[in-house]
Amino acid sequence: MEKVSRRNFMKKAVAVSAGAGIASTVFSQKSSAEEKEASQEKFIFPKSFIFGAGTAAYQIEGAWNVDGKGESIWDRWTHMQGNTKYNADVACDHYNRWKEDVAIMKQLNLDCYRFSISWPRVMPDGKGKINQKGLDFYKKLTDELLNNGIKPAITLFHWDTPQKLQDLGGWANRDIVDWFADYANIMFKALGDRVPIWTTHNEPWVFTIAGHTYGKQAPGLKDLPTALLTTHNALLAHGKAVQAYRASGSKGKMGITLSTSWNLPSDEKNENDIKAANLIRRSHIEWFSDPIYKGAYPEDVWKKYADAGIPMPEIKPGDMSLIQSPIDFLGLNFYGPNVVKHEDDNYWPYGVRFLNERSDLGSNMWKADELTRMLLFISDRYNKPEMMITENGYNGADTDFVDRNNKIQDVIRKEYTYQHIKAVYDAIQQGVNMSAYLHWSFIDNFEWGTWSRMGLVYRDYANNNRIIKESGYWYANIIKDKCLLF
Ligand code: NOJ
Repeated sequence: MEKVSRRNFMKKAVAVSAGAGIASTVFSQKSSAEEKEASQEKFIFPKSFIFGAGTAAYQIEGAWNVDGKGESIWDRWTHMQGNTKYNADVACDHYNRWKEDVAIMKQLNLDCYRFSISWPRVMPDGKGKINQKGLDFYKKLTDELLNNGIKPAITLFHWDTPQKLQDLGGWANRDIVDWFADYANIMFKALGDRVPIWTTHNEPWVFTIAGHTYGKQAPGLKDLPTALLTTHNALLAHGKAVQAYRASGSKGKMGITLSTSWNLPSDEKNENDIKAANLIRRSHIEWFSDPIYKGAYPEDVWKKYADAGIPMPEIKPGDMSLIQSPIDFLGLNFYGPNVVKHEDDNYWPYGVRFLNERSDLGSNMWKADELTRMLLFISDRYNKPEMMITENGYNGADTDFVDRNNKIQDVIRKEYTYQHIKAVYDAIQQGVNMSAYLHWSFIDNFEWGTWSRMGLVYRDYANNNRIIKESGYWYANIIKDKCLLF
């Protein structure tokens, strides 16, 4: 990979064209605008590097009860009064507009589109009967992507557990390991020959710990012991699906996507704050990645829970080796760092408090350098695995606006994205094995009840029409040349 300043790039171009007998004076006629551009640095990525964007089934498809789809825990959650202001019954109507959406992806030059399969669309009860119409939807979408030269990247599970399985205990019922593997197998049979990138779960910390402890998202439980049990079952299900993928003979890459709680101590000189930040990171990232790469849960986190009197999940013989089934890459979602302060044991169970600010982070709380640091940390810890940024993007709910020419101005998203792609570039320069950057999101989506705008494509709430944002056009250029330039 080569980093060239715009000035050196021009010099090289002069040399090449002079060598080819083209008058080099062409370059002496450059305008001052080009001179200005010449002072900008370009960051060139390898040709094989994948740039793309992603979505999640529940957040964009709509058609929640159409063509035989079963209910998911998110349908149930958003239909219960008081949980969320909106539901995603229609969402972006992607179930009907998928062709138009793929055409927009093509305009964006996406190398790859990451989407999730709605488990209850394919298996309305979560097990047993297959809903052929649901499966056909994903086949059509996949083929349309491939016909347009866009690599499909499938997430098997992005939080929408079939409600029928939730009624049997959902992720707290160990039988889900087999239910999930059966569902995964159906997908491998249907699309394993065509889809080059797969992940089992999206952000297991969120649907296990957050979904079962804080009561703020489906399934809305408030019970940490159950939450810890669901983490173990989710990891077992992941391992079993990885093994099923290998057994299916499919030749693509299989991984998992983790959310990343990358924590900064509130006071960088305070030992207790540093320890607190590490503990939270370990309870969030390493709780999932250590079992996968090292075959063990982080001991200190396990002890912290056990010492707090929490009944821990039972680990049966063979569990850890199943979880450790080798994966091809690690997907990471990164939005920004958190700030953590040590507190006493009243802050059960971790003894920490999250702060909304630290003076050097500014009001937006971003610090893209921290993405580079995190990638280096994870790369070192697991001996340089292949990694992809499976999500990163700016939540611009308040800042995107339609200008007088019907253009969507979202300059902050551009700046945010520039800085984070640059952070990935810096990690690569330092030897980290990064193969993809997938922006979140392709289109303004449900955002789990908030409709916060995060897309490269604007969705008109009134009529569901799509307009590519200015950040989208900018990103399309980056992808075209595999070159980061503002
Ligand atoms: C992570 C989740 O995977 C995705 O569903 C969500 O919309 C984004 N974060 C942005 O909040």
